[in-house]
Amino acid sequence: MKATTVLLLVLVAGIQAGTYLDRFKEQYQKIHNSANGYFSKEGVPYHSIETLVVEAPDYGHETTSEAYSYYVWLEAINGYVTGDFSSFNNAWNNLETYIIPTFQPTLGSYNPGKPATYADELDDPSRYPAPIQTGVPVGQDPIYQELKNAYGTDSIYSMHWLLDVDNKYGFGDAQGQCEQGPSENGPSLINTFQRGPLESVWRTIPQPTCDNFKYGGRNGFLDLFVGDNSYTRQWKYTAAPDADARAIQAVYWAIQWAKEKGVENTISQTVSKASKMGDYLRYTMFDKYFKKIGNCVGPYNCGGGYGKESAHYLINWYYAWGGAMPDAGWWSWIIGDSAAHFGYQNPMTAYALSTVDELKPKGATAVQDWATSLQRQLELYKYLQTEEGAFAGGVTNSWNGRYDTPTSNLTSDTFHGMFYDWEPVYHDPPSNRWYGMQAWSTDRLAQYYYVSKDSTVLPILQKWVSWVLSVVKLENGDFQMPDHLTWKGVPPEISVNVGTYTHEIGTASATARTLAYYAAATGDSAAKAAAKAAAKGLLDALYSHSSDKGITIPEVPDQYKRFKEPVYVPPGWTGVYPYGDVIDSSATFIGIRSWFKQDPQWSKIESIMAGGEIPEFEFHRFWAQADVAIAFGTYAILFNE
Ligand SMILES: *[C@@H]1O[C@H](CO)[C@@H](O)[C@H](O)[C@H]1NC(C)=O
Repeated sequence: MKATTVLLLVLVAGIQAGTYLDRFKEQYQKIHNSANGYFSKEGVPYHSIETLVVEAPDYGHETTSEAYSYYVWLEAINGYVTGDFSSFNNAWNNLETYIIPTFQPTLGSYNPGKPATYADELDDPSRYPAPIQTGVPVGQDPIYQELKNAYGTDSIYSMHWLLDVDNKYGFGDAQGQCEQGPSENGPSLINTFQRGPLESVWRTIPQPTCDNFKYGGRNGFLDLFVGDNSYTRQWKYTAAPDADARAIQAVYWAIQWAKEKGVENTISQTVSKASKMGDYLRYTMFDKYFKKIGNCVGPYNCGGGYGKESAHYLINWYYAWGGAMPDAGWWSWIIGDSAAHFGYQNPMTAYALSTVDELKPKGATAVQDWATSLQRQLELYKYLQTEEGAFAGGVTNSWNGRYDTPTSNLTSDTFHGMFYDWEPVYHDPPSNRWYGMQAWSTDRLAQYYYVSKDSTVLPILQKWVSWVLSVVKLENGDFQMPDHLTWKGVPPEISVNVGTYTHEIGTASATARTLAYYAAATGDSAAKAAAKAAAKGLLDALYSHSSDKGITIPEVPDQYKRFKEPVYVPPGWTGVYPYGDVIDSSATFIGIRSWFKQDPQWSKIESIMAGGEIPEFEFHRFWAQADVAIAFGTYAILFNE
């Protein structure tokens, strides 16, 4: 090594010294220490180190688009710290390789004039399959053709939300493959939830993303969900748009930091891929069946939208797409989602896609759409803010997921004709019970304010910050975060109450980061000092729980008494999983996942099922551990400490 290089390295290290930067590096190294097992052999970040995990994913060695979005963000900060963005580029390439579906063979048949055929969402899994209703009007898809013009392909560039990294279920839907079975050793795209708001993870029936009728019943898994006269072998994927938005947000920061280091040319390929993802992410802005937004009541009554009439411009809960297997049919479909939860909104990403030249998507109306989305999201925060400062639920264009008539208390103060919903999309548990949504979403609002200094946001943010400072407990060098929140009233008179507290890692770090951005941005010196002190307090308390695996705080997962819970399967329906577990009307959570009985921690579940107390578990979730590292790094970057 040349002497000048050595000198340069020393200088760079000198500039970047600081407690929180060191803590970032320490946490980063633990996440990348192969002995800890955060990554698969392909370099895919697992949902968690531990395999016995049941929450949104039903197995710890699955992964989600959420974990990938945190991975990209983690590596963006590493780029800032080292000046080398190759690990950031690698993270995106891994994401593209494994979780953006390559197998979308019949999307060329898609008719944007008729995106999908309607079916109701039903209140309970036991009401499924939901019959197809061909007579219900649907709208037209106004962005498909401009996406095709921009990128010259029919394939959608979005992450599917769930990946069975070790092919544990054995479907073998690896990239480009359809039901290759247990011998396939690559990560397999998989799906769960399809049966309405009460289908929690405990009651869901995992299914392949490519259903060639090799597993499941006579019609694969299709006739569990949708009632039709006949069934066609098909493929289908679902996006979790908050994750795609988070990945793009991470790329926004990488651009700023790479410019600071003078190496922006090294990330240009990743940046253009993120821009493309942002173009396709516009599917998040549409009603499920592209119906008109506003007072859309009665599936037959409410008409389909033309042009952008079907755009609510919010980040919705999902969008999905699929089609026939090429040797089985020539049709395909795309759906949006009529419901938007405040917790998924990302004004930072909307701002980045509408104003940052490198990220502006190529689609003809994309920049305008994201500019509109930014304003609409800001309006939503205002609409949903409680008198205390926390944000309540969300809004929907389709009451009960079937364009029902909402109760009369919801029709006087609507949001662009959409109805307030305190628990959008899922009810077991209620989707806005978890405090984490507050920190996740407000973090992006605070980043947006830090970057834009948009004065319309300040009062909203200030109010939230004073609420959070009043409910977070920092005592004796440790913390307690709000866990379950309860809600009362309807806009404009909504209020929140903290029901329970918890010692949760990821929500503490996300709250710290939100406060840090707010403190760095506000001109009010007292507010700055208070927010910064709380951020520091949370980060220091988290650091006091350091272990060789990251940050370790044991938990008692109260849901773990549900392993024996029945899984509804219609009478007479019978099918099998690749490893032989039978699916029929006596199915249970554990019965259709008998491989869990080989888990190293299975004995703990056995004792719970035998009536014992739920013991403590240690979980090291990728997203939470990465979030802590990102919070350390952000604090270091903002305050140079
Ligand atoms: C609106 O009214 C319905 C029916 O009376 C009630 O069940 C519901 O809780 C009310 N919604 C809210 C958010 O207060």
